[in-house]
Amino acid sequence: MPTSAQPSYPVPRLAVFFIALLGATVANARYAFAEDGYELWLRYHPVESQWSATYRAAATQLVGAANSATLQVARAELLRGIGGLTGTQPPVAENLTLDGAIVFGTPQSSRLVADLHLDLRGAGAEGYVIRSVSVAGHRATVIAANGDVGVLYGAFHFLRLMQTRQAPDHLDITSAPRLQHRVLNHWDNLDRTVERGYSGGSIWDWFSLPDYLNPRYTDYARACASIGINGTVITSVNASAIALTPRYIEKAAALANVFRPYGIRVYVSARFSAPVEIGGLKTADPLDPSVRAWWRAKANEIYKSIPDFGGFLVKANSEGQPGPQDYHRTHADGANMLADAVGPHGGIVMWRAFVYSQDQPDDRAKQAYSEFEPLDGQFRDNVLLQVKNGAIDFQPREPFHPLFGAMPKTPLMLEVQITKEYLGLNTNLAYLGTMWEETLSADTYAHGKDSTVRNVIEGSLHAYRQTGMAGVANVGADRNWSGSHFDQANWYAFGRLAWDPAVSAGPIAEEWVRMTFSNEPAFVKPVVAMMMGSREAVVDYMTPLGLHHLMAHGHHYGPGPWDASGPRADQTPVYYHRADAKGVGFDRTHTGSNAVAQYAPEVAATFDSVEKTPEKFLLWFHHVPWDYKLASGRTLWDDLVVHYNRGVRVVGDMRNTWAGLSSFVDEERYRQVADFLRIQENDAKWWRDASLAYFQTFSKRPLPKGFPAPEHSLEYYEAICVPFVPGDPSPSSRCG
Ligand code: GCU
Repeated sequence: MPTSAQPSYPVPRLAVFFIALLGATVANARYAFAEDGYELWLRYHPVESQWSATYRAAATQLVGAANSATLQVARAELLRGIGGLTGTQPPVAENLTLDGAIVFGTPQSSRLVADLHLDLRGAGAEGYVIRSVSVAGHRATVIAANGDVGVLYGAFHFLRLMQTRQAPDHLDITSAPRLQHRVLNHWDNLDRTVERGYSGGSIWDWFSLPDYLNPRYTDYARACASIGINGTVITSVNASAIALTPRYIEKAAALANVFRPYGIRVYVSARFSAPVEIGGLKTADPLDPSVRAWWRAKANEIYKSIPDFGGFLVKANSEGQPGPQDYHRTHADGANMLADAVGPHGGIVMWRAFVYSQDQPDDRAKQAYSEFEPLDGQFRDNVLLQVKNGAIDFQPREPFHPLFGAMPKTPLMLEVQITKEYLGLNTNLAYLGTMWEETLSADTYAHGKDSTVRNVIEGSLHAYRQTGMAGVANVGADRNWSGSHFDQANWYAFGRLAWDPAVSAGPIAEEWVRMTFSNEPAFVKPVVAMMMGSREAVVDYMTPLGLHHLMAHGHHYGPGPWDASGPRADQTPVYYHRADAKGVGFDRTHTGSNAVAQYAPEVAATFDSVEKTPEKFLLWFHHVPWDYKLASGRTLWDDLVVHYNRGVRVVGDMRNTWAGLSSFVDEERYRQVADFLRIQENDAKWWRDASLAYFQTFSKRPLPKGFPAPEHSLEYYEAICVPFVPGDPSPSSRCG
């Protein structure tokens, strides 16, 4: 680790003094200044004194033409980042004259880059190369790409090296995204409410758009670009046709103008009945020529304002949304009509496979597969099917969705939920990188062993013509963007995994911790460990051993395993856990709903067998007797108790860990995390006690020795009612 290198170029005396002063200040009162989290992981605070000389020596001048909007923002980011980290903004120079220069650009934008004859093949259209080179006897770092946006991504990577305190020499990095469409889905409504949003109102101030462009839009674009996100669906899947009116197209165009330099395309959710609602037509039948013409004209109108418009995201015939089945047409008919409208402009359609029909199926988990698998091969080239990680709905843990591996002729995108609807909202800490890694690594056996979900979405298993990953955003108007400081990590992890689904959750967490909080090993290690165990803790205190969908009705905050109310059974917890005197769990084997048959034979055989099913999915697939012996040697009932208690204990451990780290974090962020962990511990106990009190009425077995009895009676827990929860789309008639 080079620490004592002296800069080989003249540094003005005053600057040296200032840097020294700053260093001393930082060292003595490191965390005196409160931080509100606005800077996210793009905190360019001064590095420790042992690094500043090294980094300054590796950034003596910035050489490259910023002759496009994207190259301009790349250069601006480098100046801002290096300036903040080292205390010195490198001068922008036309020619390379100093050791330690940074050369940036494409072979087209920069003569220097062209003359280096770098092998940029591995960088593709959006990737980049960062290399330590020698130019006319001077050592330099080149950040080069085939396209301007690659230079921007490379600039962020270079800054990340400094932010995570890596040596800036001997660099030889080539990086390119493995997925084409890396898209955030905002469930934002035009009235600025956000469905399942726990970070304030919508970031989009529709009312003042397009005239006022909040600087936050630019910072949003910076954050997205820094992790490679290249698309954003700005309106909710439960779509309003108003988003497609000229007034709102103009607003979307204003956002697109802000995002364009950052390589981010704008998409909107299309309401299938828009031709009727705003077009004055009598039908929205996708085979009706007037409807098809209406969508074509609408697409043309949008592309006039937004030439690089990404396309449409569609939720159809699900949870009451309109769709092609209203006209006895298929999902393919509907998707293809929209695909034909945006196709000539280079747009795509992301058609969601989350269908939840009005008619109650025998097992809700089977529905998407049943409806979509037969349509394989019937979609246009510019349609992607967007499939949630699991077949139910973003539960703390689900087995992978059976559609992965089952549609060789239809590109499948993975949809994950960054906002934590089912994992304790913003006040519970759960790092989701581990959950997504679990899904990506799951083996579908579609082409024998090693046919992972990752291979499916990368298109390598079935040679897909399009690839992508979507994340339901957790970004809102809160100062800290995500409603909690640690929820920023989930936005970060989504971007990093969409860029490269093979990266592990651990290194992503570590990178994020270093950039967001501190590089001190005494901080990094315990915090990463805490993050890595956090999602499993939530699974343990909410839905261990394959239990699922036990959350309170509607807003999904807190336990509600007893709930059997509501208009349809398959929206209720009792439908999912099926507890009775014999045991608990949903029989999805051949003796039950036979959902297992939707998986490839090897997977189906595993899940069909109670002995072979991994215990983490046990009650997802099997109705298991209370006295069934698990690998631990304990009975199912005893093991449930152990899991629930472990979840609570781990949260307690997280609290203790955090309490010991206050000296590394500014007061404001420290406090919020500490307070939220206290909320989480109470939530975890609530979940444990309510769930065990309830399930005990079926198991009729005592708690194993040494485990605490629920603090209150079951009636007490059943009577708890939380009338208002953020992000709840239908908050009426909750209590009493
Ligand atoms: C969940 C969520 C809804 C959302 C739906 C979707 O069911 O609770 O609010 O609309 O997912 O993905 O469309």
